[in-house]
Amino acid sequence: MGPYVNITVAPNELAKLNLTALNADHSVKAVTPENKHNYLIEHSQPNTHKELHIGHARNSILGDTLCRLLRQAGHDVHAENYHGDEGAHVAKCLWYMHENNLKPTADDNRGTWLGTIYVASTKAIEEASPEQAEEYKKKISEALKQIEEQSGEYFELWKETREWSMDLFHTFYEWLDVEFEREGCESIVSERSMQIVDEYFEKGVFVESDGAIGADLNDENLGFCLLKKSDGRGLYATKDIALALKRFEEVHPDTCIYVVDNRQSYHFKQVFATLGKMGFKESERCFHLAYDMVETKNGAMSSRKGNIVPILALIKQLQQNAFAILEERYKGQWSDEQIEAHSSKIALAAVRYGMLKVDAEKKITFDMNEWLTLEGNTGPYLQYVYTRMSSLERKSDEKDIDIFADIDWSMLNNNSEHQLLAHMAAFSDVLTSSCKQLKPHVFANYIYDFARKFNAFYAESPINNEEDVNVKRARLALVRLAGAYYGTALDLIGVPKLAQM
Ligand code: ARG
Repeated sequence: MGPYVNITVAPNELAKLNLTALNADHSVKAVTPENKHNYLIEHSQPNTHKELHIGHARNSILGDTLCRLLRQAGHDVHAENYHGDEGAHVAKCLWYMHENNLKPTADDNRGTWLGTIYVASTKAIEEASPEQAEEYKKKISEALKQIEEQSGEYFELWKETREWSMDLFHTFYEWLDVEFEREGCESIVSERSMQIVDEYFEKGVFVESDGAIGADLNDENLGFCLLKKSDGRGLYATKDIALALKRFEEVHPDTCIYVVDNRQSYHFKQVFATLGKMGFKESERCFHLAYDMVETKNGAMSSRKGNIVPILALIKQLQQNAFAILEERYKGQWSDEQIEAHSSKIALAAVRYGMLKVDAEKKITFDMNEWLTLEGNTGPYLQYVYTRMSSLERKSDEKDIDIFADIDWSMLNNNSEHQLLAHMAAFSDVLTSSCKQLKPHVFANYIYDFARKFNAFYAESPINNEEDVNVKRARLALVRLAGAYYGTALDLIGVPKLAQM
């Protein structure tokens, strides 16, 4: 059926090919790309004064993994954060806190506490009588004004509380093993964004409508992009215009990727089109990487309504559950400290891989118990297969195996051994393809297949009971070779490698 060519590759040639792609420390070499790109990847971007929840983990894990994969694909990558640290949500939270004279206790995580105050503030506003609502509105607007004008007690409170949220974010990033080269936020770009509006209004690029200013995008079917309200205030989109200009001035990316959930797709279409109207050609190099929501078993989450589990409480719960699983297996063999250290890493594997294995365009249902199981398509299962590789090596009586020398790879004659060698040979192609499509799940799925192929080999090819010493050595060398590829793969998706589990 159609043109194709069958080829047969000798296992020893395949093994040698796989060896050439390894560094001396057994990590897989980075690819030399056809076109080396400079990428700016914006991800994470939680708003201060609001609660962090499991949905934020999907964003950071996608963004961070994309950075790791693109670096391995040979590109330059700058990861940037962009916090929403000003605007109505901040004013509401601080108004409620100030008005009711509320303060966190010494036991509270202050960032988490602020999130609960934000929820309480929206509730109070929703339940207010018309007269009260009018009074609240005035006070909130005064808070907003002080923050914008950078003076007054609300400005002081803003400065202090903003750090509480930042501290919480950093605790979260540390746990997630996520790093940024650039830390951005809305308050840095807001002043310049207003100057840009005036400048392009004078140039005739932006137009007036009902006392407000914006970009008329009707010719592109994108309506009117509001940039300055009739009260003189800027908007979320206004700041995104200034942000894009700043980035291209400072980092000169070939591609600028915004990892943001799909509810903001229209917003980014408007922003990129507005930049185009301004004559900013770089807008063609901006790309919104949209992902779908994370739901829990109880449905959608909303930080406004407060029906979410705060992230630190959730991490703690994950760790406790992982602890219970390990305790059952290793009570008496491992110390509590050992179990504790491992549980944190298993919990992380569960979350990182759980978020990555699904196409970003699809919804995810977060299920703690399912994600933590050691059998099935889960992060802990991937870790378990790595520990199997390590323990095979540890327990072997042939310790002096150097995969770069004197291995007779032609001893590998089982089908599962060939499958495994072929799978490793595809490593860099899958990686490159995953990067080209900007789809980390493609690479994550490759790792799951890797794990299954390794297990098939483990079932088919005994090692320590093998009598032929050359076959035995070749199989052990294959375990070591697989460990090199598989270990690099786990590093690339941020799943911690454990020698024992
Ligand atoms: N802070 C925003 C939010 O939580 C997301 C920011 C997305 N990035 C951007 N450049 N607009 O909704």
